[in-house]
Amino acid sequence: MSVDTTLTGTEIRARFLDFYASQGHVKMPSSSLVPHNDPTVLLTTAGMQQMIPYFLGRETPPAVRMTSSQKCFRTTDIDKVGNQRTLTFFEMLGNFSVGDYFKREAITYAWEFLTKVLHLPADRLHPTVHPEDDEAPQLWQEIAGYADEAIVRLDENWWGPPGASGPCGPDSEIYYDRGVAYGCGQADCKPGCECERFLEIWNLVFMQFYQDLDGSRTPLPRRNIDTGMGLERLTMVLQGKESVFDTDLLRTIIDRFATITETPYGRDAKSDTSLRVIADHGRSLVFLAADGVLPSNEGRGYIFRRILRRAVRHGKLLGLDKPFLAEAANTVIDLMGDYYTELKTQRERIIEVLSLEEKKFSQTLNTGLSLLNDLLQDLKQRQQSTIPGEEVFRLYDTHGFPVELTQEIAAEQGFSIDASGFEQSMQRQQERSRAGASNTFAQAQDDRALTEILQRHGTTEFLGYDGLVGSSKVIALVVNGEEVSAISAPQRALVILDKTPFYAESGGQIGDHGDLSSPMGNFQVQDTRRPLKGLIVHYGELTEGHLRVGDTVQADVIEQRRADTMRNHSATHLLHKALRDLLGPQVQQRGSLVEPERLRFDFTSPRPLTSADLSHIDGQINEWIRANYPVQTKIMPIHDAMDTGAMALFGEKYDDIVRVVSMGSSIELCGGTHCATTGQIGSYITVQETSIAAGIRRIEALTGRAADAYLRQRRETVERIASLLQVQTDQVETRVEQILQDLTAARRQITHYQRNEAQAQALSLIQQAQDIAGIPVIAATVSAPDAKVLRDMGEMLRDKVPQGVVVLASDLGERIALQVNIDPALTKRGLNAGKLAGAVGERLGGKGGGRPDSAQGGGKDKTAIEPALELAKAFVRDNLK
Ligand code: ALA
Repeated sequence: MSVDTTLTGTEIRARFLDFYASQGHVKMPSSSLVPHNDPTVLLTTAGMQQMIPYFLGRETPPAVRMTSSQKCFRTTDIDKVGNQRTLTFFEMLGNFSVGDYFKREAITYAWEFLTKVLHLPADRLHPTVHPEDDEAPQLWQEIAGYADEAIVRLDENWWGPPGASGPCGPDSEIYYDRGVAYGCGQADCKPGCECERFLEIWNLVFMQFYQDLDGSRTPLPRRNIDTGMGLERLTMVLQGKESVFDTDLLRTIIDRFATITETPYGRDAKSDTSLRVIADHGRSLVFLAADGVLPSNEGRGYIFRRILRRAVRHGKLLGLDKPFLAEAANTVIDLMGDYYTELKTQRERIIEVLSLEEKKFSQTLNTGLSLLNDLLQDLKQRQQSTIPGEEVFRLYDTHGFPVELTQEIAAEQGFSIDASGFEQSMQRQQERSRAGASNTFAQAQDDRALTEILQRHGTTEFLGYDGLVGSSKVIALVVNGEEVSAISAPQRALVILDKTPFYAESGGQIGDHGDLSSPMGNFQVQDTRRPLKGLIVHYGELTEGHLRVGDTVQADVIEQRRADTMRNHSATHLLHKALRDLLGPQVQQRGSLVEPERLRFDFTSPRPLTSADLSHIDGQINEWIRANYPVQTKIMPIHDAMDTGAMALFGEKYDDIVRVVSMGSSIELCGGTHCATTGQIGSYITVQETSIAAGIRRIEALTGRAADAYLRQRRETVERIASLLQVQTDQVETRVEQILQDLTAARRQITHYQRNEAQAQALSLIQQAQDIAGIPVIAATVSAPDAKVLRDMGEMLRDKVPQGVVVLASDLGERIALQVNIDPALTKRGLNAGKLAGAVGERLGGKGGGRPDSAQGGGKDKTAIEPALELAKAFVRDNLK
């Protein structure tokens, strides 16, 4: 059988997953592009990322054999996208063994899939191995019949860790030979050569080691398999295409935009580049948005913003003047939404996020263009031809204007940019942000010590659902990333206990504060967190005496603070339920913060909330509070929990056994601490409702004591206002309305007097008209309250002095305003108000411009008023024909 070149990308993905399923692998959904609980990487770059906790032996996998098609994003080459090869977003096909099979099966399966399922010719496939791996070449000889010398040894055949630390191991990469026509022609051309002939298609990683931050490696508890094959590349090989952009996975998008812009793909290099950028970035943007990434100025949000801008700019290059990302998104979603169903269910939200940022950036582009034009004008006047680096950086950093665009426009107008100056500004900026990130290192040090403690002692028992005090044993102490056996006051440290009533920050609820005390010393807990699954860590300071590993301590959580926090947490559940009841099941929690002082709840909403909605929500929640429902918690398997209709967090990874918290009609998966009954919440009040991103709203609210205090303060404010207005509190509104009416009337009157005064001033100027070359010219200083009145004065004088020129300057405080009026008849004789205002404005240290018969301007140099007016007269004399 030969290769079936008609298979689509979607079909190839399915064949892969089905093949591995037939070999006992469980099909796993792709994990989110936003790595779960892994601060060491910004975005998911490989299929193995969701497997890390299993490889490390920290969590039990759902199965020991798994397979997936993983959404991946690599940021290294964003600027190169547009060539024939580079992609930011791609799909990685992979199979995984967690301590189950190893090299032999990994190679056997891969070989079988490539040659028996896809029918790729064996003589086109070339395995490579790590020079120190003697087993893999043996297996390749045995399984696929290669001669030993046909197996290329490459030093680079080592994979991982994906972040600063993590699992890694030697690998075996399979190359596809595209034929001599693609080669460099060198005698030693072989897999690994820089040329286009040998294409790496599949990486089989023998995941055996853990690599620490300092580079040292230790064997993992079990040997694992991780493989990765780019779907786009495989599809390109199977479909016999020159480039990944010619496969149906990307070409469909290109063709759509080629049609819209009437720019056939393949017509010229420049427009082809732009079409490829839109195809790649279109996919990335849709998938990032679907996984909850929103445009921002840092981290993954910045990556999103950067590629969106690049896409919009290339759209412009193709002549797309109207927004087009919604169209790109629809094309991608239609193409890929059957497998990645999150695209379909969130179509509207994705389009909204993209369109909003697209609109914003179009404005940025316009602002940037006008700033850049001013800058170029200025440089021209100073006869300079290079844009200083810090100006390029300012445009880029403050105004979001892309550097390539600055460069391109500058070049069009004969300017160059100071690239090294720009680099320097950029570097200074990076140093500033690095300084901000140095904490991460200390945290990584702590994490290493804590990982060992967790391995040695297991998880911490949590007592705090039922009580706030307990007697506990000190298991370990960590100071500056190192384990110690004892500490003396004063000393900041991390304390790990065998069991604790302290709640560790999670699910939006902040960590508890309190004391750990023994006859020998006192440790103040200033925060409680769970840096590793199951391990509760007390952060704080030993303020008195000593504390040793093995000591028994009395653990006391500060009660008031925790009680307030619980009120807010229970209220958050009621709020979630009330929102769903009101707005429908599209409401999804996107984040929450539960503190003692307040609660904050972010959620997707089909529409903004009206004040009637908010009153309804507040009313409903308070009714549930008064109903005093008991708060019940149950531990059950996740499937049973989902059957009860429990609300779960979007994109969250849950354990098999979960905790379900219910109160009244609210049922939620939650590990947090709650009131015993809803009545304990006391009262609830929404204090703010805002939009934090497209389609995402935020509610901030208060309960219990804080709600009381808030209402009391409001009442006091109203009382103070009433006393200032000298009325009863219930008359405040009427009184304020009345005052506002009076104020409007008074303002109107002031304007009236100002007009009269201006008119009188203007009339007195008529006599001062000077005759210049037979034309009456008034050039004078007046006192006008604002530019509008100054304009009126100019217009009035123009009417009173036919065939004349009027130039008025007025000191408005922070600047001198200028008004120029010229009888239209004179514009034919070479006089132009816009030009005159420009010249006079410049003399005032500013600028000016406008129509030929009426123009405005101004400047800040007050000492220049007289010479500027003289200049105006000279201008008339010199320009009149
Ligand atoms: N994790 C391996 C890779 O990304 C398979 O290449």
